[in-house]
Amino acid sequence: LDDLLAEGVSGRRVLVRADLNVPLDGDRITDDGRVRASLPTLRALTQAGARVVVAAHLGRPKGAPDPKYSLAPVAARLGELLDGPVTLASDVVGDGARAAVDALADGGVVLLENVRFDARETSKDAAERGALADELAALVGGAASGAFVSDGFGVVHRKQASVYDVAQRLPHYAGGLVLAEVEVLRKLTGEPERPYVVVLGGAKVSDKLGVIANLLTKVDRLIIGGGMAYTFLKAKGYEVGRSLLQEDQLEQVAGFLAEADKRGVELVLPVDVLAATTFAADAEHEAVAVDAIPADREGLDIGPRTRELFAAKLADAATVFWNGPMGVFEFAAFAGGTRAVAEAIVASSAYSVVGGGDSAAAVRQLGLPEDGFSHISTGGGASLEFLEGKELPGVAVLEED
Ligand code: 3PG
Repeated sequence: LDDLLAEGVSGRRVLVRADLNVPLDGDRITDDGRVRASLPTLRALTQAGARVVVAAHLGRPKGAPDPKYSLAPVAARLGELLDGPVTLASDVVGDGARAAVDALADGGVVLLENVRFDARETSKDAAERGALADELAALVGGAASGAFVSDGFGVVHRKQASVYDVAQRLPHYAGGLVLAEVEVLRKLTGEPERPYVVVLGGAKVSDKLGVIANLLTKVDRLIIGGGMAYTFLKAKGYEVGRSLLQEDQLEQVAGFLAEADKRGVELVLPVDVLAATTFAADAEHEAVAVDAIPADREGLDIGPRTRELFAAKLADAATVFWNGPMGVFEFAAFAGGTRAVAEAIVASSAYSVVGGGDSAAAVRQLGLPEDGFSHISTGGGASLEFLEGKELPGVAVLEED
């Protein structure tokens, strides 16, 4: 971004890919972290007089306009935070987008409508994606005068038209957010200070297989909580009642347990859980040891002894990465485990990174101090794929000429 600013952008049209994929309740944004994270790059460009065209997605619409996934609430929030109007184009690359971009003044911002309203955005066919990328590039005047700034870190693991293909058609630059995120995550994949402790949670172990396999070669201690812990507990021979269980992953998880043992990685699992009668905010529940989970109950959070155990295992960490809540933190009665882990990380003197998605939202929703962590990533899937050692297409393409 500094290179682009040094070239001078006043009056120039610049396409910015941002990740503004925020959680919504109707049309109310419940966590605007990603919108706020996009501000420094947008401000730097508008203050330098660029005509900024932002491309972003919201949710997973089916490749056609769908009012449920309109970026209208995001445009409004972005305007409030930037303290200036943000025009929402009525389409992605059609007449609406062209008219909105034509009307841009220096320092103005247009947000294109949800780029996934165009089926070509997520197409597996490179030619289809390329056709959309051509149209996006044309909106900012093509390679002769336009530029592309990639700042949507949360989406750089997607080989999509507005993330990947468009970078091949315009002079391209990494935005401040992408640079900062990559720098932080490279610290973790390089030579992190030890003990290096990772806490993983969230519902499904199947979403984390690649990252667990890779982490077992890197970390000193791996703490597992959340819904995914029950598949580990079952693999160790415990009965988990009606808790979330991925039977089809048991063999894989048993392999992880053996691998951790072989490599001397300390794998820490819950010793007690809050077992509830049903999946509800007001469900009757009690703390039970993991060898006494009743057959008709489901674990919705880690229990008090586990909170103490996890906190003790975090206390001496020099580096911590945390991804995924420890329980159903959206229900106040089952948010205690996630809060306890977050507080233990804040209390440690470790270099700490929160890996996007639900865990970042949890930090904010639970009112925890954001500055208690060294870095809160905006990327959920992207940061996990980075730690898995995968090449992220949206980053790799920026390194191409
Ligand atoms: C995310 O929420 O992780 C990013 O915005 C990417 O969204 P996606 O998983 O729908 O591609």
